[in-house]
Amino acid sequence: IVIPACGSAYYAGCAGKYTIEKLCRIPVTTELASELRYADPLIDGHTLLIVLSQSGETADTIAAIREAQSKGAYVLSIVNVVGSTIARISDDVIYTWAGPEIAVATTKGYTTQVSVLYLLALYLGEKRGCLSREEAAKLTDDLMILPQMVQRAIDLNPQIAQLAERYKNNPSLFFIGRNVDYAVCMEGSLKLKEISYIHSEAYAAGELKHGTISHIEPGIPVITVATQANVLAKTISNMEEVKARGGMIIAVCRKGTVFAENSVDLTLEIDADLDDMLVPLPTVCALQLIAYYTSVLRGIDPDKPRNLAKAVTTE
Ligand code: G6P
Repeated sequence: IVIPACGSAYYAGCAGKYTIEKLCRIPVTTELASELRYADPLIDGHTLLIVLSQSGETADTIAAIREAQSKGAYVLSIVNVVGSTIARISDDVIYTWAGPEIAVATTKGYTTQVSVLYLLALYLGEKRGCLSREEAAKLTDDLMILPQMVQRAIDLNPQIAQLAERYKNNPSLFFIGRNVDYAVCMEGSLKLKEISYIHSEAYAAGELKHGTISHIEPGIPVITVATQANVLAKTISNMEEVKARGGMIIAVCRKGTVFAENSVDLTLEIDADLDDMLVPLPTVCALQLIAYYTSVLRGIDPDKPRNLAKAVTTE
């Protein structure tokens, strides 16, 4: 499976990759469409291209589809805008039915894309015998309560507004996490930088020592996403490395996560009765709110960030 996309849709693909590989045991590569189109990609008649696009009109994504089609790939698109170009040129389409998205930077486009990838992974996992009916039923139940879990994340509003107040004037900020938490960090970082104009970078927590750690100095905010049990201890140790150098740690974690004393400056607890695999969805809503409040507190209109377009229909 190859997933080409741009912007947030690309990051939705990065999150979906973990789920599909875990539930279906099929190798997935997520590709920036602008890169894939010129890379002479290793795609053939055995490739399933899962295309993600809110608008269905992104020029680079359309070009990536054409390139893959010329090599014989089957194209399944996950698109929001009904009847859009990508929906029309694909072999199959699943609509996300999120309704019109007004803000330039996508929000519900991303969350619905990740939800559909999750549904698809559940379906394929069961069909391929990688997932029992009981396991699939349990995960489907989780999906059904997702709206309430997202609401709980949205209810963190006042806390997030206070948090944004703390670092709104910092020139730079980092996000770190591992595995699907890293994918969530990339989206959180993109949202923050595009609508608040604060420089922000997402780093795989284990890569800190290969780069970002040289930027850590007293007071620099590091938003650490630590929701996944299998990598929690590792992420916590990265967090402690940052703290030891004076960084300000904002931990985004599941409710009840215990950290060593003085290792965290602020905590944003995601209260979700969900399998770890689905926790990225409420978590990303909290990160979207972080970007939103930072933008508003800096006097920016979060719906209309400068120089950006809702649909990028030219190269
Ligand atoms: C623009 C938007 C982003 C979006 C990207 C891809 O850059 O500002 O929010 O993620 O395009 O758009 P698409 O419509 O293909 O999902």
